[in-house]
Amino acid sequence: MITVRNLEKQYSGRTVLHDLSFSVDAGEIFGIVGRSGAGKSTLLRCFNGLESYQGGSVRVMGKEVSTLDGKELKTLRRDIGMIFQNFNLMGRRNVFENVAFPLQVWRRPKAETEERVAELLELTGLTDKRFERIQNLSGGQKQRVGIARALALNPKILLCDEATSALDPETTLTILDLLQDINARFNLTMVVVTHQMEVVKRICGRLLLLDKGRGLSLGRTEDLFLFSEKNLKNFTEEDYALLPSGTNIRIMFPRDIARQAVITAMARELDVDFVIVGGRLERYLDKVLGFLIINVPDESLEKVLRYLREHNLHREILDDERHVGERTG
Ligand SMILES: Nc1ncnc2c1ncn2[C@@H]1O[C@H](COP(=O)(O)OP(=O)(O)OP(=O)(O)O)[C@@H](O)[C@H]1O
Ligand SMILES: [Mg+2]
Repeated sequence: MITVRNLEKQYSGRTVLHDLSFSVDAGEIFGIVGRSGAGKSTLLRCFNGLESYQGGSVRVMGKEVSTLDGKELKTLRRDIGMIFQNFNLMGRRNVFENVAFPLQVWRRPKAETEERVAELLELTGLTDKRFERIQNLSGGQKQRVGIARALALNPKILLCDEATSALDPETTLTILDLLQDINARFNLTMVVVTHQMEVVKRICGRLLLLDKGRGLSLGRTEDLFLFSEKNLKNFTEEDYALLPSGTNIRIMFPRDIARQAVITAMARELDVDFVIVGGRLERYLDKVLGFLIINVPDESLEKVLRYLREHNLHREILDDERHVGERTG
């Protein structure tokens, strides 16, 4: 859907995107994560031709963006919807007028516009707010209007730039659920820019970690988080106080909840007293996954490792030079 190769972008001689290469597949929700100033918005704007680029290639739906003329760019932008942190709505106009706006720009007939807006308000749960002014809505309702407007022309791709950053955690979840529902129902490709880890974990199948315009990591979200990928760990600054004696082992929970009991079974069967150092269960897309860090006394280490291996549990030894790199699948 989107293929980026060796992309370079400069602002008055200063490089803000360095040699980026990745692609976004049709129908996926792809995350772009990074600190403020990393270049996330700039990268997103290269996709719909709102920014030029000085090197490399950005192909969107088969077309090199930099070669498009005015008319082709207009068509590309029709096929790419966008939503923003600050919603970018017309505050004094009502919900209907905001959602109808792109349809009017494209001179769609009145009856078609009415019908399409009604459909979109239904989809986003705003039917009863149809004639409400934007300035009277809550943040979550405003973003629903933003989503409805972005979908008005039936885009193939939806770009989301920090779409939930101005919302409280509960409202964030309702918006993420809506985005996920739209992705599933219409197989709409989405690119989600965010600095919120909850957002990527909940809806993004894959992610690109961007740091000062460079791509640091690229991969499946759950792999990068569960295996505590180095760059991502630096980014999230997640750390546990490991115990100085014994061996600290990080065990990844299996996908299948029933099998997660294997860890308590191990304690029982092997009769080892391990200490729980830390851990977390989280929802990744629609699955609950997580990890547990345990500290095992030296005399039990061999049998614990054997048990984990035999039960096919992903494991990683955290602090012992002798075992660094023992990470299995
Ligand atoms: N129009 C512009 N002219 C010059 N420099 C710019 C322009 N827009 C962005 N930049 C610079 O490009 C870099 C990337 O900015 P960008 O807005 O893409 O970051 P971001 O990751 O979206 O940050 P944030 O999380 O704060 O939105 C920054 O160093 C910024 O100062
Ligand atoms: Mg930005």
